[in-house]
Amino acid sequence: MSVTFHIETVGCQMNVLDSELITASLLREGFQYVENPKLADILLFNTCSIRQHAEDKIYSALGRLKHVKKYYPQKILGVIGCMAQKEGEMIFSRAPHVDLVVGPGQIARIPYLISKIRAGQTPQLELSLDRRGKNRQEVESSFDFYDPTRDLLARENPYQAMVRIMFGCDQFCTYCIVPHVRGPEQSRGMEEVLAEVQQLASQGCREITFIGQTVSKYHDESGNRLSDLLEKTERITESSSLQRIRFVTSHPNSMTPDLLEAVRDLPHVVPYFHVPAQSGSDAVLKRMNRGYTVQKYREMLDEIHQTVPGAAITSDFIVGFCGETEEEFQQTMKLTEDARFKNSFIFKFSPREGTKAYQLYADDVPEEVKKRRNNELLELQNRISAEDNERFEGQMVEILVEGLSKNMKKLPVLTEGFPEEEEKTGFGKGGMSGEEKPEEMVQLTGRTACDRIVVFDGPRSLAGTMQNIKITRTSAFTLFGEMMVSGREE
Ligand code: SAH
Ligand code: SF4
Ligand code: F3S
Repeated sequence: MSVTFHIETVGCQMNVLDSELITASLLREGFQYVENPKLADILLFNTCSIRQHAEDKIYSALGRLKHVKKYYPQKILGVIGCMAQKEGEMIFSRAPHVDLVVGPGQIARIPYLISKIRAGQTPQLELSLDRRGKNRQEVESSFDFYDPTRDLLARENPYQAMVRIMFGCDQFCTYCIVPHVRGPEQSRGMEEVLAEVQQLASQGCREITFIGQTVSKYHDESGNRLSDLLEKTERITESSSLQRIRFVTSHPNSMTPDLLEAVRDLPHVVPYFHVPAQSGSDAVLKRMNRGYTVQKYREMLDEIHQTVPGAAITSDFIVGFCGETEEEFQQTMKLTEDARFKNSFIFKFSPREGTKAYQLYADDVPEEVKKRRNNELLELQNRISAEDNERFEGQMVEILVEGLSKNMKKLPVLTEGFPEEEEKTGFGKGGMSGEEKPEEMVQLTGRTACDRIVVFDGPRSLAGTMQNIKITRTSAFTLFGEMMVSGREE
């Protein structure tokens, strides 16, 4: 019987991509993927360190697995990703039943390390160098580039793919652990990135998302910038299935005219910018070392609106950062009100050991205050998102169909279909030969170019196609609509 594996993934898109790449490499080794972690011979946790909560959850999951390991000593338990890099040996002391700890800069070595463990050499630890006090080049080369040939089998959905164009981060926002766990900022060469896009496109991929912590700062050794990469990628759309090109996450200080003009001029690059503000207060931004003022951020928003009219802009905010006063928080509310972001991700500040904020400032905003500010800002943002979505009522939108909606995935029993819905929409009637059964209607989900989620009923076979949907109802997070079926009006 073949050896099975499962990867539990938390964290950002970097981790989602890493898990895909690790899955592909383990499949190539002959291991078999299983959905159920309980059935896995090799269970890996791809972890995140961005907030304390993310780490606590992993430690408690590891705690629960202690007795499992006692009864099934052959089971291999691994902690990989950002928390592995941050915690290192500490993971073995807190959870001695763990066999494998591998940082995000060493994931190429996972199959080899697993083979060593299977040969009885446990535990295994593989980390990149700690940045502090080390020579930059040495540290850079300890973070291996790992973006091997893409394997269709390892992706949840063949129509969409992420492509890493940058590693690490050099911004050193005082609250943030990422520069420590993901290493120095490095851009991949444009030709290499384009070859990967070309390969994905030839596999039928319709949407690619370029990812990096400060993706707008992309620049390779030959001097190519993100605008150059977008332009070259646009050319691939002319001779392939590729329809949409996205990029996340942008930094407010690198939204240069060439980038905005590329988004304006290249028809397949979506008019969507995730460009986190983090705070609406100059004093807080300074303590965060974000490198801009609120005024500069507002000017940057104006430039986006002027160059790319109708663009969707989204943000992240941290509330309750060290020393944040009520007045400073109200300035964040004001910025949110004025900017009218499509949506914002809002986080309560979580102190991270090893960061500047941890050394320099006290985590002095009480938890209840953080919670209240979080709710207040969320409520404001949700009101804005709901208002923003209302204008789509009655409009047609073009979407890329992604597949079953989240509800459907959670409730497999519903995937049996909705015969009465089929009647209602009339889809599949007319043009069908007598023998052919109409396809079941299921709840599907897709996204507009500006990343708005659209839920509608349609046949499963639409996954991966572009469709026009008429929006009938909206909420803060979702547009609900109907497929436009030709001949339906008659
Ligand atoms: N590189 C991106 C995203 C980094 S992590 C950027 O610069 O925007 C995603 C988000 O997590 C950040 O934007 C920030 O809002 C939040 N975050 C980072 N560190 C945090 C911390 N210590 N506590 C709470 N939220 C944090
Ligand atoms: Fe963290 Fe700032 Fe880098 Fe984003 S830009 S990853 S918030 S240090
Ligand atoms: Fe978390 Fe690492 Fe991403 S810390 S947010 S998984 S880069």
